[in-house]
Amino acid sequence: MSTSNPPSVISDSRFDPSFTSHVIAATGPNASPRARKVIGSLIQHMHDFARENEITIAEWMGAVDMMNWAGRMSDEKRNEGQLVCDVLGLESLIDEITFKLAAETSSPATASAILGPFFRHDAPELPNESSIVHGVDDGEITYMHGIVRDLKTQKPVEGATIDVWQASTNGLYEQQDEGQVEHNLRGKFRSDRDGRYAFYCLRPTSYPVPNDGPAGKLLEILDRHPYRPAHIHLIVQREGYKPVTTQIFDSEDQYLENDSVFAVKDSLVVEFKKIEGNEKAVRELEYPIHLRPVDGKV
Ligand code: BEZ
Ligand code: FE
Repeated sequence: MSTSNPPSVISDSRFDPSFTSHVIAATGPNASPRARKVIGSLIQHMHDFARENEITIAEWMGAVDMMNWAGRMSDEKRNEGQLVCDVLGLESLIDEITFKLAAETSSPATASAILGPFFRHDAPELPNESSIVHGVDDGEITYMHGIVRDLKTQKPVEGATIDVWQASTNGLYEQQDEGQVEHNLRGKFRSDRDGRYAFYCLRPTSYPVPNDGPAGKLLEILDRHPYRPAHIHLIVQREGYKPVTTQIFDSEDQYLENDSVFAVKDSLVVEFKKIEGNEKAVRELEYPIHLRPVDGKV
């Protein structure tokens, strides 16, 4: 094959040095600048990767089979493609990139963490002080509460929605488990005029990510366990503020140092304290939330 394009960056390669630039140069004039840049870069990295590791047809076909397997396993209740990215650390890296500017400031806005595949948009709106726990009798009920504040003024933020979801004590989210009622362990709360929110949930427990598909196969190939440290998911939103998607992690969990999807950040590790005198709960978690105003220079 002949081309006038510059040689690929791996100039000492034993393989056709002009092939990659020829493929990239096939991009047409109407491709958007972003598509040209991102997909061009993807082609370059994939080709360099294949040359560097001398990937064979059998190995590449194995990877294609795993992608197709992930596609076949995915539906509205299961996102295996996302899970494969998660066990390879990609969603956590993308989360870091997306929120880099916020993370670089020294101000203590609530840190972000990955969404994960088990969020549902249609969680029920519930009044403060109510419980998201239904039909679970082997967990430690926790009273979780706090104040949502404006990061800049430190004033309470009224009307923020706090969308919360967590797995049950058997390690399953309700959409994975026919034994749980619809929307179990999910709820959407709203901060009151003092910025306060409060609800009852479970002290979370660690669980394995689904490992009966290609993500599990990858973990096995890489000699890794599938467990995530105990956590609760939150999305906090209010008009005029940057939404926060995050997770909070139990400080006593054994998997904090080796989360199978690499999502733990120090500032998201919290203590579920023992309490007495609350008829409904045996643990308490006070969790303040700081929202960054969209035009706030903090
Ligand atoms: C989760 O926390 O729900 C989760 C995140 C990534 C992969 C699998 C599960
Ligand atoms: Fe989770």
